[in-house]
Amino acid sequence: PRRTAVLRREAVTVTVPVALAALLAAAGPAAAGTTGASGVGDPYFPLAGNGGYHVEHYDLTLRYNPTSRHLVGRAVLTARATKKLTRFDLDLKGLTVTGLKVGHDRAEFRRRGQELVVAPRRTLHKGERFKVTVAYRGTPKPVTDPDGSLDGWIPTDDGAFVAGEPQGAMTWFPANNHPLDKSSYDFTLTVPKGRTAVANGVYLGSRTADGRTTFRWRQKEPMAAYLATATIGKFKIKRYTTADGLQVYNAVDPREAAAAAPVLKKLPSVLKWGSKLFGPYPYRAAGAIVDRAPDVGFALETQTRPVYDSAPDLSTLVHETAHQWFGDSVSVTSWKDIWLNEGFATYAEWLYSEQHGGDRAQKTFDALYARPASDDLWEFPPGNPGSGANIFGTPVYARGAMALHALRTAVGDPAFHRILKAWADGHRDGHGTTAQFVRLAERESGQDLDSLFQTWLYTAGKPNQG
Ligand code: ARG
Ligand code: ZN
Repeated sequence: PRRTAVLRREAVTVTVPVALAALLAAAGPAAAGTTGASGVGDPYFPLAGNGGYHVEHYDLTLRYNPTSRHLVGRAVLTARATKKLTRFDLDLKGLTVTGLKVGHDRAEFRRRGQELVVAPRRTLHKGERFKVTVAYRGTPKPVTDPDGSLDGWIPTDDGAFVAGEPQGAMTWFPANNHPLDKSSYDFTLTVPKGRTAVANGVYLGSRTADGRTTFRWRQKEPMAAYLATATIGKFKIKRYTTADGLQVYNAVDPREAAAAAPVLKKLPSVLKWGSKLFGPYPYRAAGAIVDRAPDVGFALETQTRPVYDSAPDLSTLVHETAHQWFGDSVSVTSWKDIWLNEGFATYAEWLYSEQHGGDRAQKTFDALYARPASDDLWEFPPGNPGSGANIFGTPVYARGAMALHALRTAVGDPAFHRILKAWADGHRDGHGTTAQFVRLAERESGQDLDSLFQTWLYTAGKPNQG
């Protein structure tokens, strides 16, 4: 069985970049000629991401002063052109660009809103691999999302809470800022001595000199820009390796430590539970960043190491852990498909509960179904939230989970569990669409599920059949 899994993964690694290249090359309204498009064509966030290239790797070197809130950054992107390019965009909002090179040559650039328009000195040919070096500085400010929430680099009293879903990555580094483009990352983060800077992936070490400490992190498996973090604060650190060999690194604001401790103690068992249910945990590193960030109001499944705005409860820990499979490893290709992240992570909470002596998923489903037709829950269908303002709305989470419960009820537990595993395995380190999920569910169950998904994902208002 092990051998099959490895072969399957190789097949995915070979096919995904090709499909991705085609998607990125075709993306966006301004994709004509030799200009890289200003967006990947996301209907909710038209300027998110860029067309004409794929970023293979980000090397981010940042220095931050929490007192002055000043950031000095250097980003080196290793990218590959998916078409002939005389011009391409990066996404960067605010901050001042002090220098920009493509390869070894200084390149001209222009700022236009969140677009950083780059004109390389020499035309890049299709398929060419190139490096872009951006030197920048300034005071990063979060963006306000269409739903009113803060997103990106959010200053705290002792550092910054950094979480970029859906748009915030561009507030702190130049990015191809859409989940369609996934990349590996290296982080070199320098902060005043006594603060800790925590990013994604494996901790490579730290060094203190001249009153500053530099932390190095490496995220090898592909990651969408919105899942990157560089959260800074005065943290208590705990590191250990689980019985399964996962490298855990937890950073906790001491003011949240007492409340967080009993929940964080369960992380290894939650990871193990997830691995049983969804298939192998997709990463080599894990952990949590528990900050105290009163302006934030959410947690985010930052890859390998979710970031919490305060001590999480167990359900939230389960939710963010489940996202490592659903959302992080298997990414959406469009924000419209967000139920594939939030519906799955919410349903994982229901499964965890029923398997640990709590409410049965059926009971949670029934309680939601009992809500009147006027309830927020039925405001829009989860498969078609309608705008970026709705992507974190109740229907996406709760009715998205209800859609999965309806699927489970229709196909039975064995097929349902095969579907969850096959979804995580078949799209690992890649992408998945709702249409692909529906096809997979039909294949694994041998049933025609069109009307079930039509009802639960796409039909406005409260469905008739519970
Ligand atoms: N994906 C996060 C979760 O675990 C929510 C992020 C909300 N982001 C925002 N900008 N409101 O549910
Ligand atoms: Zn979530």
